[in-house]
Amino acid sequence: MFETISAAPPDAILGLSEAFRNDPNPDKINLSIGVYQAADGKTPVLDVVHEAEQRLALVNKEKTYLPISGSPTYAACVQKLLFGEDHDVMATHRAMTAQTLGGTGAIRVTADFLKANLPGVTVWLSQPTWPNHPSIFTAAGVPTKSYSYFNASSGELDFEGLLQSIGAIPAGDAILLHGCCHNPTGVDPSPDQWQAVVDRIRDRNLVPIIDLAYQGFADGIVPDVAAIRLLAGCGVDLIICSSFSKNFGLYCERVGALTMVTANQSVAETVASQVKQCIRANYSNPPAHGGAIVTTVLSDPELRLRWEKEVALMRDRIHKTRMLLAEKLQKLHVPGNYAFLARQRGMFSLTSLTPSQVDMLRNQYSIYIVRSGRINVAGINAQNMDRLCAAIQAVTGP
Ligand SMILES: Cc1ncc(COP(=O)(O)O)c(C=O)c1O
Repeated sequence: MFETISAAPPDAILGLSEAFRNDPNPDKINLSIGVYQAADGKTPVLDVVHEAEQRLALVNKEKTYLPISGSPTYAACVQKLLFGEDHDVMATHRAMTAQTLGGTGAIRVTADFLKANLPGVTVWLSQPTWPNHPSIFTAAGVPTKSYSYFNASSGELDFEGLLQSIGAIPAGDAILLHGCCHNPTGVDPSPDQWQAVVDRIRDRNLVPIIDLAYQGFADGIVPDVAAIRLLAGCGVDLIICSSFSKNFGLYCERVGALTMVTANQSVAETVASQVKQCIRANYSNPPAHGGAIVTTVLSDPELRLRWEKEVALMRDRIHKTRMLLAEKLQKLHVPGNYAFLARQRGMFSLTSLTPSQVDMLRNQYSIYIVRSGRINVAGINAQNMDRLCAAIQAVTGP
């Protein structure tokens, strides 16, 4: 039976990592996969994660199943992190949270939930977006369409195009927005622009889905959820897909959360029952370890403070690397405007490198970049910066 099946193409991002691993060049550079790397090129285990694991080792005595929605203590920590203690969402109990397998798991459960409960809904995605977004919704049978987001020639937000696009989305459809550190562009709306986006979403009666994979990587843990807090108070139903892969460095533990904010507690309970149905039919219940680490850190004021400091270190390193990269490319008179690199936030930037330039970087210099031209700035460090800039100069030159 299986002989008739044809091979699937390798994943655009994870497939490159495989090729990188097999490359014998000792000077190879990987700017493809979205994993934070410190100045030494390594992906650190955060100190607070280490400490939480040691504490857990002393108290964890059993390995029975978690509930379908995961740990309720974890859910409470996630809600506090998203909304703060004083938001009316907390007092009215009109939000539900389920522990999921990373941010990807939260998005997939969202897709299954929409398919089962709002069958006519289309999900609108930014153009461009994280390539897994369309894959996940399509796999769940939920149609997707695109809205304008990015002005490629200026490297800025296409704010007018964005507002116009939202204004044309049919009422009742869902719109997926990146909470901060837009992947792949690194371009986010300013606070004023967010306010306008929120107003338009409310006016059009859309369901916003916020993909929050980089909380803390733009301006800080609390500033990075300002848009979420606005949306949670503006009278629409809201879906948030959180990931702790990046800001806790817990990539392989698969820890994330799906939060839905509704009109009142009774609706939240009904929605929670439907979410549980989706999870039960998918992976039954989540793994415990990553969630327990996050809960341990977030529920201890001292660890929470130390975590914020560690996130700030990652954020600052990325920001400084961006500035240095923009400066070096300009000094080398690399064709194109690279000033935008310094203004963008988060790990990613969409460069104007063409697919053939990307191929040359890989084949001639062992520098691995996604073919769209997206680079992971966190893969750059003092040891590889000059080699990278010289290679970009070579492939973009006459
Ligand atoms: C925009 C975006 N959403 C979601 C995710 C998924 O995160 P996780 O690894 O927690 O599934 C990523 C990871 O790269 C991402 O960049």
